[in-house]
Amino acid sequence: MTAPQKARQRAETLREQLDRANHQYHVLDDPDIPDVEYDRLFHELRKLEEDHPDLLLANSPTQRVGASPIGKFQQVTHRVPMRSLGNAFSEEDVHDFEHRLIERLKKDHVAPDDIEFAAEPKLDGLAVSISYENGRLVRAATRGDGSTGEDITHNIRTLKSVPLELRGNDKPPFLEVRGEVYLPIEGFRIMNERLAKDGLKEFKNPRNAAAGSLRQLDPKETAKRPLTVYMYSLGEISGWQLPDTHSEVMDQLTNWGFRVCPDNRVVQGAEGCLEFHQSLLKRRDQLPYEIDGVVYKVNSLGLQDSLGFVSRAPRWAVAHKFPAQEEITKILDIEFQVGRTGALTPVARLDPVFVGGVTVSNATLHNMDEVERKDVRIGDTVIVRRAGDVIPEVVSVVTSQRPKKTRKIVMLEQCPECASPVERVEGEAVSRCTGGPEICPAQFKQSLWHFGSRRALDIDGLGDKVVDALVDHKFVTALDQLFMLEQGQLVSLERMGEKSARKLLDSIEKSKTTTLARFLYGLGIREVGESTAATLADHFGDLGAIENATEQELTDVTDVGPIVASRILDYFSQSSHQTLVKELLDLGVNWPAPAVVGASSQNEAISGKTFVLTGTLVEMKRDEAKTKIIAAGGKVTGSVSRNTDFLVAGENAGSKLAKAEQLGVNILSETELLGLLS
Ligand code: IVH
Repeated sequence: MTAPQKARQRAETLREQLDRANHQYHVLDDPDIPDVEYDRLFHELRKLEEDHPDLLLANSPTQRVGASPIGKFQQVTHRVPMRSLGNAFSEEDVHDFEHRLIERLKKDHVAPDDIEFAAEPKLDGLAVSISYENGRLVRAATRGDGSTGEDITHNIRTLKSVPLELRGNDKPPFLEVRGEVYLPIEGFRIMNERLAKDGLKEFKNPRNAAAGSLRQLDPKETAKRPLTVYMYSLGEISGWQLPDTHSEVMDQLTNWGFRVCPDNRVVQGAEGCLEFHQSLLKRRDQLPYEIDGVVYKVNSLGLQDSLGFVSRAPRWAVAHKFPAQEEITKILDIEFQVGRTGALTPVARLDPVFVGGVTVSNATLHNMDEVERKDVRIGDTVIVRRAGDVIPEVVSVVTSQRPKKTRKIVMLEQCPECASPVERVEGEAVSRCTGGPEICPAQFKQSLWHFGSRRALDIDGLGDKVVDALVDHKFVTALDQLFMLEQGQLVSLERMGEKSARKLLDSIEKSKTTTLARFLYGLGIREVGESTAATLADHFGDLGAIENATEQELTDVTDVGPIVASRILDYFSQSSHQTLVKELLDLGVNWPAPAVVGASSQNEAISGKTFVLTGTLVEMKRDEAKTKIIAAGGKVTGSVSRNTDFLVAGENAGSKLAKAEQLGVNILSETELLGLLS
């Protein structure tokens, strides 16, 4: 073989390897070569192409970000219009939809008894159309008005989840696929964190961020954003025999190397659709992408044809919307809430608004930096967002609707609860009440509530109302007094009967037997969250050792930096805290002594194994589980691959569970994990 032939062959091999690695990583979410190896192959190919420019192909993996910025977007006319979907908002609407289909199909004498639907998440991103000629990506366009969109080929090429060449042998001469480009929630969070750090304006939501990222004239900018895509339909296709159903088309798209949403399902009838809607609505907050509803499509392509279109939407599909997570309302006033560590959080009192499925009348503004960055004022019209169990927040101001008279929000000089001075430490975003839990009732209430919370001492029945009453009546003025409460005091409280008083006393008694980690976490030392508490407990094994540890000994612990260490030192140096801890132990708070310090780091079942955690864990937080696995010598990664040894599936586990099942990865329940850990 001559040298040029050798180079050509090597370039081809490298391109194949890189395309394959891209597909594994970005489409299958299952990387099979390490990043450094990818980089090595990439640089080798780039060097070869530089040395032999005739080897450079437009669709080489080195050319994804190759294009120069464009001057303006060109118009693209869609060969088949990109339509929209009709909406359903209720169960009744979905039954009506099915009824309409059956009636219409009856007229054509093709009505089946039960209609099969392809049910899919309705992704909240941007519709794109991508065309391939003889298997090569040639054009990508936005939806635009449905007939004409904008040419965004230069940007779409930078998405590694989009194949530049179709995979497999069965390539049609012409193929147009459609799908939704979106920003995964985690990518959105990281991107906004970076923007905020650089003092730049953050994006309001993943959809806006995705739109902004796609409408870049310079593909280098788009390439920096972690955009990805799920394909959900075909546009035009020629020279290829269509299968019978939409779901089979989706399977073929997967074979060609496209990403297709793993949460898509085939269901029977309106009832099947509604079950899908319910189950996805429940999982909405755990999904790695944002959705604003689900889409039901008649699965049979033959029936789709018979049904056709009405105005701009297909008769055979409908979007069943979820409650909106963002709404517009007015800020009536601002109050400051005092937290456990004295932090004053500005909270907006809102004109009540229905959002995310509930009526919201308060929303957090987080801190004064946020208030200033967003320029929020009393009287403003704002966008409020509520996602799942997360506290509703003010996203942004609708400046076009700002009234003439607004009031600026200013930080208080005195704590609204105890009148102690408020202080803002240099370099910190929060202002704090300087009273401390000994003086400030708000801080003490929060500390007491935290002490009894599920992940700390886990005292059943010690909710915020009971805490308020106990503190307001001065029955509890320090944490240890919780263990001195008497039945008579409790029944004197409003809405507390003999029975619930007995129950509360029983759970207080039960909570005395705990673990060192829970106790430490419950003390509420600043910066000592659940996972740090677990690490400290694991490392030192004994409370005395932690109380007496030096700064050096503390920072020797994984994840304990100088700030955390100084908080711990500071806490235990105060005589009131030393007395409190001693009192608590004297009152009977106890935990099992460690077997052998460090014994947990030799856990045979876990050591050297790779774990992925998914779904909601009930007994412990994911962070806690992660810390424990790591402490036992295991590894925790974010995505399931063939290298995963165990997938720990909590409640409502989703696509990772499906993937683990597909790959034959061992699946553990949370209880089984706890068994391994013990
Ligand atoms: S199918 C002819 N499937 O919703 C119907 N659309 O209102 C073609 N969308 O512009 C659309 N997820 O951007 C379809 N799984 C899904 C979707 C989906 C999101 C968007 C799409 C479209 C809009 C229709």
